[in-house]
Amino acid sequence: MRCYYYSTPYSLLFLSFPPLLILVLCLLCSPILSLAASQGSSCVINRNCNSGLHCETCIANRNVKPRCTRIQPSDPKSKGTDLPFNRYTWLTTHNSFARLGQIRSTTGTPNIAPRNQQDTITQQLNNGVRGLMLDMYDFQNGIWLCHSYGGNCYNYTAFVPALGVLKEINVFLEANPSEVITIFIEDYVTSPMGLPKVFNESGLMKYWFPVSRMPKNGGDWPLLSDMIKLNQRLLVFTSKSWKENKEGIAYEWTYVVENQYGKGGMNAGSCPNRAESAPMSTTSRSLVLVNYFPDIPDFATACKHNSAPLLDMLNTCHNLSANRWANFIAVDFYKRSDGGGAAEASDVANAHLICGCNKLSLCKDNSTFGVCEGKAKPSPPTSTSTGILTGPSSSSGFMLKSWLVLIIANIMLVNACSL
Ligand SMILES: *[C@@H]1O[C@H](CO)[C@@H](O)[C@H](O)[C@H]1NC(C)=O
Ligand SMILES: *[C@@H]1O[C@H](CO)[C@@H](O)[C@H](O)[C@H]1NC(C)=O
Ligand SMILES: *[C@@H]1O[C@H](CO)[C@@H](O)[C@H](O)[C@H]1NC(C)=O
Ligand SMILES: *[C@@H]1O[C@H](CO)[C@@H](O)[C@H](O)[C@H]1NC(C)=O
Repeated sequence: MRCYYYSTPYSLLFLSFPPLLILVLCLLCSPILSLAASQGSSCVINRNCNSGLHCETCIANRNVKPRCTRIQPSDPKSKGTDLPFNRYTWLTTHNSFARLGQIRSTTGTPNIAPRNQQDTITQQLNNGVRGLMLDMYDFQNGIWLCHSYGGNCYNYTAFVPALGVLKEINVFLEANPSEVITIFIEDYVTSPMGLPKVFNESGLMKYWFPVSRMPKNGGDWPLLSDMIKLNQRLLVFTSKSWKENKEGIAYEWTYVVENQYGKGGMNAGSCPNRAESAPMSTTSRSLVLVNYFPDIPDFATACKHNSAPLLDMLNTCHNLSANRWANFIAVDFYKRSDGGGAAEASDVANAHLICGCNKLSLCKDNSTFGVCEGKAKPSPPTSTSTGILTGPSSSSGFMLKSWLVLIIANIMLVNACSL
């Protein structure tokens, strides 16, 4: 057997290779050896990371080494469900339907509209996304999800008929009887009963949370456990006020305060309301929605925006929203971050809302507010001011394991080659 590369003198050379190259070689082996890595560990592909994480870089933050980063928030229901709905936070995707990779609209025409997310609605829901922002238009004798302008949908800005996506949501709610989903419709539908018809056809009406049960003057929402028990697990808000009386769809800004979307909502230290919303400090609306994404979705910088600046904005908006934490955190490319990202931001807001602590791990199950006695888990890595991840101790453990695996593999190969 000829294999010069691994014959003895070369193997010594190999062992003196720069550690990075060896690590990369080793990580390439690791799926076979099923080594899974925790948050912040180096990786090459998603399979290297534990579930709930994926492998990515954040070059916009000068973080060029691929790391396992979070894509799933913790489930706040794990701390109990007996709080009013407005005491929980839900990760929300902006233009949830505008997905990278869908080159053509289902009309067959190439779609030139910008993309805001990386995966399908079902994948988003499976990753813990519970708020969906959907732009709906009358188009081709139906209701379509479209990312358009001037209130009209075109072949080259249309994505998919709304029905298919609503059916996906229905399948998810059927399979997950304790989950509650909120849909925010940017509503361009003018056909009479257009939305009720498409929701009815999707099967979702059986989960409809009735407008009559929504608190009108800033009161608490029904308990999450109550919504689950009554199977009223779908909240739908429209941007058209007249639909509330005529079609039974809640007008969003009667119930929600929402900050400015786009660039105007990204100035550190300020949290202005969007034009349609009452000021953020208006307590007669009991839900708070925080948007944090640029006017034009940008895959490259999303990881940076979704990290430390998002957490800062969450704090700023809390301070300027009558000390209320966001119930919905809406971002582009929700999976992108240089560490904990939007998933961590959701956990932080949930911790404050559920138990008044700054980490969800400090909230006891069914705890009384203000008691932070839970056993603190080792804090996950957070981005530093330079944006470079501070690796957790498990990272060096992983390195050590990688080295050991490599050395053993090398010895075995050397032996095989000398046969
Ligand atoms: C919280 O309390 C309820 C009863 O009110 C109980 O059924 C549930 O298991 C508790 N949840 C947790 C996470 O301890
Ligand atoms: C849009 O697509 C449909 C097919 O789905 C086609 O019938 C129609 O002619 C297209 N319109 C334009 C303006 O290309
Ligand atoms: C809702 O759907 C059912 C069948 O799925 C149909 O019988 C009923 O007429 C529909 N109602 C509306 C208002 O579209
Ligand atoms: C929010 O208010 C608290 C308490 O007044 C303050 O310590 C904190 O710096 C403020 N945070 C932001 C981001 O404004």
